[in-house]
Amino acid sequence: MTRSVTVRVPAKVNAQLAVGAPRADGFHDLANVFLAVGLYDEVTVTPADRLTVTCSGPDAAQVPLDATNLAARAATALAGRYGRTPDVHIHIDKDIPVAGGMAGGSADGAAALLACDALWSTGASREELLALCAGLGSDVPFSLVGGAALGLGRGELLTPVEVGGTFHWVFAVADGGLSTPAVYGEFDRLTAGTDVPEPTASAALLTALRAGDTTALADALSNDLQAAALSLRPSLAATLAAGTSAGALAALVSGSGPTTAFLVADEESAEKTAHALITSGTCRSARVAVSPAPGATVQRP
Ligand code: C5P
Repeated sequence: MTRSVTVRVPAKVNAQLAVGAPRADGFHDLANVFLAVGLYDEVTVTPADRLTVTCSGPDAAQVPLDATNLAARAATALAGRYGRTPDVHIHIDKDIPVAGGMAGGSADGAAALLACDALWSTGASREELLALCAGLGSDVPFSLVGGAALGLGRGELLTPVEVGGTFHWVFAVADGGLSTPAVYGEFDRLTAGTDVPEPTASAALLTALRAGDTTALADALSNDLQAAALSLRPSLAATLAAGTSAGALAALVSGSGPTTAFLVADEESAEKTAHALITSGTCRSARVAVSPAPGATVQRP
C-alpha cells in the first residue's frame, strides 16, 4: 500500500535581527528573535521510484524543482544519515511568499525532513533532526520548532522565547525576490570600516513578547538588514510608508526582504491595513496572519 505523510509548516518573521561582522566562514553571528506566523506551506511525501519534487500555489513557478530545492536536500540528507535512498515524491503546496524573507524555503526543508522521518520511521531523536536541519540552512531548525525562539550563532542555536499573547501582522508581498547572500553582502558593504557591535538580544523586546504587549513590541522591533534590503530595493520605502500611514504600529522589512511586515493592534486594523497596502499599488499582495504559530506538524487524516 502506498501511503503519504503531509506536514504543515509556518512562515516566520524576525522580531529582532541583530547582525554582527562577517565570520571567517562567511556567515554572520546573529541575535535573531524568530516568531512563527500563521501562513503555511504543506509538504506531502509519497513513496516513489526516485526523488522528484512538484509544487502548487500562486508562486509555484518560482520554486526550483531540482536537487537544489531544500525539501529535496532534506530528504537526501535524512536518507543518507539512515543508509537508504530518498525514494519519495515530494509535493509542496506553497502559500508562503517565495524568496521573501519569510523562510519559505527553510520551511519546506524542515517539513520534508519531518515527513520523511515519519514515512521511514527512522526513530531519529529531536536533537538529530535539529542537527540535520542546521546542516540545511540557518533558519531551518526554527521552522521545525516554530513558536518563538532566540537564534544565536548563525541563527541555528535556538532557545525558546516566552510569548504572552497573540500578535496581529500584515505582510506586503513584493514583486520578485531578494537573494539572502546579496542582502548580507550589501550589509557588509554598508558597514565596511565601521565597528559592527556583537549582536545581542534586546531585553525590551523579550519583555514585550513575554507580556503580550503589542505597543511595546512595536517600539522594540528591529532589523539590521533593513538598510541593506532598502539599498537593493529602494521601492520598499514606499511600501513601509503606505502601511504606516494606514495605521500600522510598526513597519519593517521581514528578514532579508523584500516582504515587509506591519504590526497592527487587532484583526480589524489588520484588514484595514492590508486593504490600504493593496490599493496603494506599492506591493503585489498583502496577507494577514497572527503569531506565534506552531512549528512543523504531521497532519493526521
Ligand atoms: O544558512 P543559509 O543557507 O540559509 O544562508 C544563506 C546565505 O545567507 C549564506 O550563504 C550567507 O551568505 C548568508 N547568511 C549569513 N549569516 C547568517 C545566515 C545567512 O551571512 N547568519
